[in-house]
Amino acid sequence: MAPKKELKLAYYIAGILLFVGAMSYAAFPVKVPDQPRRIMFESIAGKVFFDHKTHSAEAGYGLSCIECHHELEEGETDPQPQRCGDCHEADSGDEDMPKKSDAFHKQCTGCHEEFNAGPLNEKCNSCHVLL
Ligand code: HEC
Ligand code: HEC
Ligand code: HEC
Ligand code: HEC
Repeated sequence: MAPKKELKLAYYIAGILLFVGAMSYAAFPVKVPDQPRRIMFESIAGKVFFDHKTHSAEAGYGLSCIECHHELEEGETDPQPQRCGDCHEADSGDEDMPKKSDAFHKQCTGCHEEFNAGPLNEKCNSCHVLL
C-alpha cells in the first residue's frame, strides 16, 4: 500500500472508533445507582445478605422506601437515607427505641410475617450464614 493510502485508512479507522465510542457513551450513560444492590451485614452471629434491589424494585417485591427507611416523608423516593444505626444504638436503654439488632430483627421478620414470605425469626440460619 502506498503511504498516502495507509494514512487515509488510519483516519478512516480512527473515525469509526470515535463514532463507536460516542455511540457507546450515548447508549450507556454513566449513571450512579441511587440505591445499593446487595448489602452484607456482619454480626457476631455471622454474615447476613440482604438483596436490597429485589426488595425495593418494582420487578421484585415492589416495596417503597418508607416501609424500611421509616424516617422518610411519605412519597420520598430518591433519598440518601440514614443508616439504621445512626438512630438505633447498639445498646439503647430507651424502651421506645429498639436497639440496633432488635430494630433489624423486628423490621425484617415483622414484614416477612405480614407477607407470609421470607425468613422468619425462628429460622436464624435462613438469614445468618457462618462463613
Ligand atoms: C425492605 C427494606 C428496604 C427497602 C424497601 C428500601 N431499603 Fe434502602 N436500605 C435498607 C436497609 C436495611 C439498609 C441498610 C441500612 C444500614 O446499613 O444501616 C438500606 C440502605 C440503603 C442505602 C445505603 C445507605 C448507606 O449510607 O449505606 C441507600 C442509598 C438506600 N437504602 C436507598 C433506598 C431507596 C432509594 C429505597 C426506595 C427506592 C430503599 N432504599 C428501599 C432497607 C430497605
Ligand atoms: C432518624 C432516626 C431513625 C432512623 C434512621 C431509623 N429509625 Fe427506626 N425508629 C426511630 C425512632 C425514633 C423509633 C421509635 C418511635 C417510632 O416508632 O417512630 C423507631 C422505631 C423503630 C422500630 C419499632 C417500630 C415498632 O412499631 O415497634 C423498628 C423495627 C425500627 N425503628 C427499625 C429501623 C430500621 C430497620 C432502620 C433502618 C432501615 C431504622 N429503623 C432507621 C428512629 C430511626
Ligand atoms: C417491608 C417488607 C420487608 C422487609 C422490611 C424485609 N423484607 Fe425480606 N422479603 C420480603 C418479601 C415480600 C419477600 C419475598 C418472598 C417471596 O416472594 O418468596 C422477602 C424475602 C426475603 C428473603 C428470601 C429471598 C431473598 O431475597 O433472598 C430474604 C433472605 C430476606 N427477605 C431478607 C431480609 C432481611 C435481611 C431484611 C432486613 C434487613 C428484610 N428481608 C426485610 C419483604 C420484606
Ligand atoms: C430476616 C433475617 C434475620 C433472621 C431470621 C435473624 N436475624 Fe439476626 N440479624 C439480622 C440482621 C440484618 C442483623 C443486623 C446486623 C448488623 O447489626 O449490622 C442481625 C444481627 C444479629 C446479631 C448481632 C447482634 C449484635 O448486637 O451485634 C445476633 C446475635 C443475631 N442477629 C442473632 C439471631 C438469632 C439467634 C436468630 C434466630 C432466633 C436471628 N438472628 C434471626 C437478620 C436476621
